[in-house]
Amino acid sequence: MHHFSYRGGVLHAEDVAVPRIADEIGTPFYCYSTATLTRHYRVFTEALAGLDATVCFAIKANSNLAVIRTLIGLGAGCDVVSGGELQIALKAGAAPAKIVFSGVGKTEAELRLALASDVGQINVESEAELHTLSKIAAVMGKTARIALRVNPDVDAGSLDKISTGRKEDKFGVEWTMAPALYRKARTLPGIDPSGVAVHIGSQITSLAPFEAAFLRVRDLVLMLRADGFDIRHLDLGGGLGVPYDHNSNQTPPSPEEYGAMVKRTVGDIGCAFTFEPGRVIVGNAGIMVSRVISVKEGTSRSFIIVDAGMNDLVRPAMYGARHEIIPVLEAPPSSTTTAMDVVGPVCETTDCFAKGYPLPPLRAGNLVAFLTAGAYGAVMASSYNARALVPEVMVSGDQYAVVRRRPSFEEMVALEQMPPWVE
Ligand code: LLP
Repeated sequence: MHHFSYRGGVLHAEDVAVPRIADEIGTPFYCYSTATLTRHYRVFTEALAGLDATVCFAIKANSNLAVIRTLIGLGAGCDVVSGGELQIALKAGAAPAKIVFSGVGKTEAELRLALASDVGQINVESEAELHTLSKIAAVMGKTARIALRVNPDVDAGSLDKISTGRKEDKFGVEWTMAPALYRKARTLPGIDPSGVAVHIGSQITSLAPFEAAFLRVRDLVLMLRADGFDIRHLDLGGGLGVPYDHNSNQTPPSPEEYGAMVKRTVGDIGCAFTFEPGRVIVGNAGIMVSRVISVKEGTSRSFIIVDAGMNDLVRPAMYGARHEIIPVLEAPPSSTTTAMDVVGPVCETTDCFAKGYPLPPLRAGNLVAFLTAGAYGAVMASSYNARALVPEVMVSGDQYAVVRRRPSFEEMVALEQMPPWVE
């Protein structure tokens, strides 16, 4: 469910006509809907009703300050994975107690920043990190409330490149090794081992892997409690998938089904829960809009060349991900479709958004929208090929605002300088 729809044959973001934004700010750009963000946050939190739950939006999915602040205004906390994201969360107004610091390789400087900021929870990913954190906390006179991120050795059945919960993945502590590490944690200064965390991957489209992981975590909590640990916090990560392609039959479970499964597996365990959803909150709340530069007919394939490239939306090139592509001006019902390769202008063959994609006739100057681009879209953009970082726009009702503008050429090169030996 989202708020991008045709009205009078023209794609609108809520009440704003998409061509109006394109004409005023130029293309390509990302466009987010406040109503969709709000709805998704509410549906997700309502599905957890009855649990003592905090929803910490995974800001890696979309770290635009306006997006994060909107969610914070609804009650969200933030899941962060770097010092930069931690500062963004604080700048957006997140309550430190509602910030969870995850991440497989945190530097000492980042751990110090997290302790100085009094974040609610630090998810520890290894024995080495546990020792480093203890040392730093002791020097600072702080106690770190930690959860050990356990790797439950469950295959999330998602894209290989975004699965994290198999024992061969780099994330977390193998769950069989966790009890020994908790025992060690208990002896270390500055450490309060009161939580368990798990996150098994992203774009997960069935409940089974979640269920298997949560049951393992449940066993671990009971085992730790029997060993005298006061486990009060359970961080169940993110990972719930979203429908990307309406032509496929891949339908991820709804937040309601996910919430019911959480209650069924661990609801009675007497813990405060943290969730770290990213994609399910923001994925369908954003589109990327691009203009057709030209159409090239070949003997074996035909191409639509658009002004957005893999640098603006890298998911298709990086993961083979599919985003639905629709014309901004609705095709009349009578129009036929042709299989087109939709490609960007970047000088790489992999700069291809879709191959053989059925599209109605399009001409240079027409606008197209890439749907479900609100998560892992703008955050993963780069300026490869010296293309300006793609701007972001947010809509609310009949208003829109640029929430990250396109940099000028001078800004793009402002960080560079000549070494003294180059004239
Ligand atoms: N928590 C942790 C510890 C994570 O590593 C992630 C995502 C999340 C929460 C949020 O997961 P979500 O609810 O969004 O699935 N760039 C890839 C996705 C990478 C996900 C990384 N971790 C993509 O474009 O599909």
